[in-house]
Amino acid sequence: MQAYDIRVTLGRRAILKGVDFEARPGEVTAIAGPNGSGKTTLLRAMTGEVPFTGRVLLNGRDTAAMKPWQLAAIRAVQPQSAAIAFPFTVLEIVRLGLRAGLAAADSALPLRALEQVDLAGFAHRFYQDLSGGEQQRVQLARVMVQVWEPVLDGVPRWLILDEPVASLDIGHQFTVMDLARDYAARGGGVVAVMHDLNLTAMFADRITLIHAGRVAADGAPGDVLTNDTLAQVYGCPVPVNSVPPAGVPFLLPQARAV
Ligand SMILES: Nc1ncnc2c1ncn2[C@@H]1O[C@H](COP(=O)(O)OP(=O)(O)OP(=O)(O)O)[C@@H](O)[C@H]1O
Ligand SMILES: [Mg+2]
Repeated sequence: MQAYDIRVTLGRRAILKGVDFEARPGEVTAIAGPNGSGKTTLLRAMTGEVPFTGRVLLNGRDTAAMKPWQLAAIRAVQPQSAAIAFPFTVLEIVRLGLRAGLAAADSALPLRALEQVDLAGFAHRFYQDLSGGEQQRVQLARVMVQVWEPVLDGVPRWLILDEPVASLDIGHQFTVMDLARDYAARGGGVVAVMHDLNLTAMFADRITLIHAGRVAADGAPGDVLTNDTLAQVYGCPVPVNSVPPAGVPFLLPQARAV
């Protein structure tokens, strides 16, 4: 997917000031940057949830010319938070991801998706009774069910995830990032907003770093995660080393001297 010159104004504030973005099928593309820099707004513009100017292409097609059901067949979106006001069971939530028409044939998918996010046995629990991290994994199961096959009729599909590991312990962070990698390895596209730059360096093919509504850096983790860029964007020293054998960047934040 590509986005060109995305501009978003909310209230009177310019939130995105001309952002270009590209994610390729077969890759995990991370969007990182400080709180309030515009990451969620960029996802919401690209999924048509906030008014924007600019162009968004999905598999080469302008999304402005696509119907909601066409978009829903190609990409699934996990929002940053999903509060649910009614007492749904976990299975009912995950089944929301099944598209009408596929439900009968694919009725086993929700349970398989729950197994993949390590929630086997949770199907009949009430969503509201789950922990924050468990709820987050239910939401991932729901979006995975929506676009289960990474490629359908030769067309790549997309997982668009806003901080999918934010509430997860380290083991489940790996569970989720492994699922993302596997989806990309099988030909799908993954776009994920991430805060943990070490995890991002390990799993992402490319990183777009957003700062104050603009792209501060864009490219492979080794090119984006540099001392100068990180100090400028995050306003604190984050010395970058690398981990053998592949030389993946590794960040060790330092406390300021007091
Ligand atoms: N509806 C709105 N009206 C006015 N300002 C908004 C609105 N939604 C978001 N903003 C502002 O836009 C800026 C970017 O918000 P956004 O949610 O995109 O940040 P983010 O990069 O996702 O941050 P975080 O890491 O905290 O999730 C913030 O300053 C926020 O206050
Ligand atoms: Mg956000």
